Amino acid sequence: MYKESITDPSAFWSAIASEFYWKKEWDPANIVQGNFDTTKGPISTSFFSGAQTNIAWNCLDAQISKGRGDTAAFVWEGNGLDENKTMSYSEVCSEVNKLANWLRNIGVKKGDRVIIYMPMIPELPISMLACARIGAVHGVVFAGFSAESLAQRIIDSEAKIILTCNAVLRGTKLLDLKSIVDSAIGLGGDGCRITHCLCVANERAVPFSESNFILERDFWWKETVEKMSSTCETEWVDAEDALFMLYTSGSTGKPKGVVHTTGGYMVYAATTTKYVFDLKPGDLFWCTADCGWITGHTYVTYGPLLNGATSLVFEGVPNYPDPGRCWEIVDKFGVQVFYTAPTLIRSLQREGDDYVKKYSRSSLRLLGTVGEPINPEAWKWYHKVVGNGKCPIVDTWWQTETGGHLITPLPAAFPSKPGSAALPFFGVEPVILNEQGKELLGECEGLLCIKSPWPSMMRTIYGDHPRYETAYFKPFPGYYFTGDGARRDKDGYYWITGRVDDVINVSGHRIGSAEVESALVSHSLCTEAAVVGIEHAIKGQGIYAYVTILDGVEYTMELKKELIACVRSTIGPFAAPDTIHWAPSLPKTRSGKILRRILRKIACKDDSLGDISTLADKGVVEELVRLRDV
Ligand code: PRX
Repeated sequence: MYKESITDPSAFWSAIASEFYWKKEWDPANIVQGNFDTTKGPISTSFFSGAQTNIAWNCLDAQISKGRGDTAAFVWEGNGLDENKTMSYSEVCSEVNKLANWLRNIGVKKGDRVIIYMPMIPELPISMLACARIGAVHGVVFAGFSAESLAQRIIDSEAKIILTCNAVLRGTKLLDLKSIVDSAIGLGGDGCRITHCLCVANERAVPFSESNFILERDFWWKETVEKMSSTCETEWVDAEDALFMLYTSGSTGKPKGVVHTTGGYMVYAATTTKYVFDLKPGDLFWCTADCGWITGHTYVTYGPLLNGATSLVFEGVPNYPDPGRCWEIVDKFGVQVFYTAPTLIRSLQREGDDYVKKYSRSSLRLLGTVGEPINPEAWKWYHKVVGNGKCPIVDTWWQTETGGHLITPLPAAFPSKPGSAALPFFGVEPVILNEQGKELLGECEGLLCIKSPWPSMMRTIYGDHPRYETAYFKPFPGYYFTGDGARRDKDGYYWITGRVDDVINVSGHRIGSAEVESALVSHSLCTEAAVVGIEHAIKGQGIYAYVTILDGVEYTMELKKELIACVRSTIGPFAAPDTIHWAPSLPKTRSGKILRRILRKIACKDDSLGDISTLADKGVVEELVRLRDV
């Protein structure tokens, strides 16, 4: 199948696409189009041009028409042990339609952006599907982002509608989401165009209260959506119409609004879910990712539903009430396929095997990982202890930009190697380039690029196509540059070595060092900051921040705490630096460029600093080493 997908992608993808419902067929002469070379014109990709479909229809109505109306679409497990509910495909379809009708009633049209800022409650994937039903573009913002980050995304997306929830309990921590939304709207000032805020009342977290409600802007879900009709006319959209946008961090500037379109994304999300997770109708699949990240889009919401499977949505945290929670859930519902991030595996491994062995886990048949390289020890523990040595592991490599898995094992189809993402998925042509952009052959290590379009690749950055071209295609004309390094072994297996740019991967969350730096310098006493990623036993990478403070100001513990708090409130708690290192000055070249390579070495206590001849002032390095433990 792989060979076929490369030699004749049009035939390959159109045969698969024929299994979905299309209101209008594609133009057979233009099934796959793409240009990755800026010297040959604008960068563009299209799949199934001319066709019309609707992904919500394919996720819901198509399944119901195949007799799956009573099959569970979502099994939801709340934060507390006794909170759960199952929603069938028919029930989800009704709820999606009610919300779609409400959105339409208030004037939301095809192409309009709708921001979703919600915890992992069924209303989150329902909101995504309702937007898709009417052709609106959803922009989910992870509910761990601060008011400031949310405001930035509201402004950039020019959204007029936000869907949220008053509050949520995660473990024992209460998150007051509605007040974060209120602050974000306030922070947005004139740039914020929000006219409607729809709020789910989560009375499990806090009692029902209207104290902060603004008349004509704020609406309770249960008082408005519940009253709408449960049938809704589908908006048939072009295959290349935008389905969603999702912000992600790059090495420079503000986060980018990655835009995914409908037809290719639908086909690829469904196909990767089917083959990589071996998922069949009615199977119970649990992807632990939050819908605020791409993994939750493709493998909590769209992929499982397009396959008629049941997707488990978990509101809580894996260590509450104790570190056995995941396996308790697996046994309670009979989860067959479990997909998570290496950071979670490592943190549970640290708690010992007893929490795992307390549960049978006999329903599990396949395990997956995503988000960061998995160290072989964690891989082996996952395989031996969690999977009882009988479940294949799929280590899936992909990105927000790629929409779905690009390099991944296919379970039991070929031998796996702990720590390797194995081979390219159907239709994917990875290459490894050297720094000069030359393709390396055979066994090699270098920069990971992709040389031909795949159906679910991002089509643009919202409102900034030039940035799309500059960030991903200009570095190596003719190739999509992933930002990752990789090694290819003698069997053609890929080993992802991590980011080669200034993106830090903390617990599988992508954080741009520039964003953390700008949050630090927003503190009135911080004049300069330089942030690097360093190895972290549980999180994969931790954030190490060098800060320069105003001359004459004393560097105190109090100030250190304030700087960390500044990052928490500007970006979100997950981006808080692990270490703050006082730097009276930073190592720079004569032209003023910060030498991060040296900063990384000082941070990880590797004092073999290599070539420091380009440094303007060598004394700076000695001083930083001296101040390391202050
Ligand atoms: O560095 C790679 C790492 O995560 C980055 C993408 O992050 P994001 O867009 O947030 O999407 C994460 C979930 C798809 C990549 O550039 N990454 C992702 N999966 C793996 C990985 N690194 C190694 N192995 C993986 N399986």
